[in-house]
Amino acid sequence: MALDAAYRFPHMPKYYYDDWLEVAEDEIRHFLMLEKLLHELGAEYGDVEVHNSLFEASQKTQTLLERMAVVPRYLEANGLDATPMILEKLQKLSKNAMLEKIQDTLKIILHEEIEHVKKGDVWFGFACEAERKSTEIYFEIINKYYPQGFLRAKNLNADARKKAGFSCKELSFMAKREVC
Ligand SMILES: [Fe+2]
Repeated sequence: MALDAAYRFPHMPKYYYDDWLEVAEDEIRHFLMLEKLLHELGAEYGDVEVHNSLFEASQKTQTLLERMAVVPRYLEANGLDATPMILEKLQKLSKNAMLEKIQDTLKIILHEEIEHVKKGDVWFGFACEAERKSTEIYFEIINKYYPQGFLRAKNLNADARKKAGFSCKELSFMAKREVC
């Protein structure tokens, strides 16, 4: 997805491409970390069905504005909310070395994903400016592709999302309460 973001949109500033190549490198490393854990558990990537919403989103969003809103700033940002919930569930299991490795890996990924969302936030802002649109168009775009988009927003990871560039106004709107 990061490579597609780099390939799809030509004539952007050089640091746009630097950003997405950096993200691609992270994602490759994340995949290898998870694949290693799967192997240790006697499994392979593909043994368990996974969703392909990132790929679907990339096919649907063909402008920089929509791509940045949907892929990093919505789908990847949702990962910032989901991972702490997974960690919380794992915390309830009886401790063992494998579990600790899984928890450590998820924490690294969570931490590094903040930067991916942040990059998406920066380039979403860039696209808004280029198209002379207010950043509030974010909600219109998300609503267009995901009409139920913010239903689960009660588990918002406000700290991580703030670091990734979401404003308190946006977070409060999503969570339907004052978050900061
Ligand atoms: Fe990512």
